[in-house]
Amino acid sequence: MKNMLVTGGCGFIGANFVRYLLEESDFTGRIINLDKLTYAGNPENLADIETDYKDRYIFIKADICDGTRMAEIFEHYEIDSVCHFAAESHVDRSIAKPGEFIQTNIVGTFNLLESARIHRNRMILFHHISTDEVYGSLGREGHFKETTPYKPNSPYSASKAASDHLVRAYYKTYGLPMTISNCSNNYGPYQFPEKLIPLIILNALEGKSLPVYGDGRNVRDWLYVKDHCIAIWTIMKNGTSGETYNVGGNSELENIKIVEMICDILDEKNPLSDGGSRRDLITFVKDRPGHDLRYAVDFSKLSKNLNWRPKQSLETGIRDTIQWYMDNREWVERVKSGEYQTWIKTHYS
Ligand code: NAD
Ligand code: TYD
Repeated sequence: MKNMLVTGGCGFIGANFVRYLLEESDFTGRIINLDKLTYAGNPENLADIETDYKDRYIFIKADICDGTRMAEIFEHYEIDSVCHFAAESHVDRSIAKPGEFIQTNIVGTFNLLESARIHRNRMILFHHISTDEVYGSLGREGHFKETTPYKPNSPYSASKAASDHLVRAYYKTYGLPMTISNCSNNYGPYQFPEKLIPLIILNALEGKSLPVYGDGRNVRDWLYVKDHCIAIWTIMKNGTSGETYNVGGNSELENIKIVEMICDILDEKNPLSDGGSRRDLITFVKDRPGHDLRYAVDFSKLSKNLNWRPKQSLETGIRDTIQWYMDNREWVERVKSGEYQTWIKTHYS
């Protein structure tokens, strides 16, 4: 893989992946990071990479919904591999405004597949990043396997399911080499503070209320983002074309428990001035419509076939993540105030 197109590389997982690939992995090629820079895309996440890897890292501001532009980029940069992260990714936003999810997640993926199809002679791999949410919701027992039928419940997960089907169809119909990974909930550095963990960390640091949907008994399987990045690169290198791999953290927890865990760690690291407990800030709020009860991932295919398993425990991962948000207040302030968006407008207009 000499010229890898990474889409959505300025988002949370994409930025961690680009960093991992260039700084820590055995990847020796060039990364072309293509990102529209929506509210969730922040080029400041990779500012040091842009300077340190001038010969191996290129950033392009572009929209995957622009099919003509995608074809030009594939041609110009001689793209031979794709790692496709770009997506609208937040379930609550998809409930409020589903249209963008259909455009980016489905039409955008289709455009990339078309460009890859045109250049399939040099295409080594199209790796598609997806979610365990395509399988729907579990009861209190059981795990999602790669063979679990798709039953998405939110506009977000339905749009991701559609894109998964398109990727697989291009393999079956046109012989496009591809792999898909369906991963559980990620957490770690650079996550936009609309998702549960960074939202709770930042609100708790500021002594604000901590919104928990419904009764807080919904369960998610948490995975540290770097472990996900290692899984993706493992699949890209050693996975079998045409296959899907589940990726999970083996760290299931009820939402209320993870919120309490964050409160307790912060009380220890950074006690409130009145000596109170941050658990008192927890506020149960109206539930999300169609809220999936539980996700849990069986990733035995990935661990048996490709020898991957998560390295980071939930306890240490959460501690590291809290510390990262405490150490990076400037990043937090620029993201929360939207100041980075002003910077984007002046740099990339
Ligand atoms: P994110 O919202 O932080 O980042 C998405 C990135 O895509 C942003 O940089 C954004 O600017 C870019 N983007 C959005 N629309 C675009 C468009 N039309 N053209 C080009 N770029 C566009 O998302 P994330 O949490 O990093 O998730 C990345 C991928 O991983 C997504 O495909 C998501 O479905 C999947 N995923 C996420 C999780 C999770 O827990 N966050 C878990 C499993 C799978
Ligand atoms: P989220 O981080 O949005 O990820 P996803 O919906 O993709 O799982 O939410 C994780 C869980 O936390 C989910 O069950 C919804 C819940 N949640 C809250 O209770 N409060 C919040 O403020 C948010 C954003 C999420």
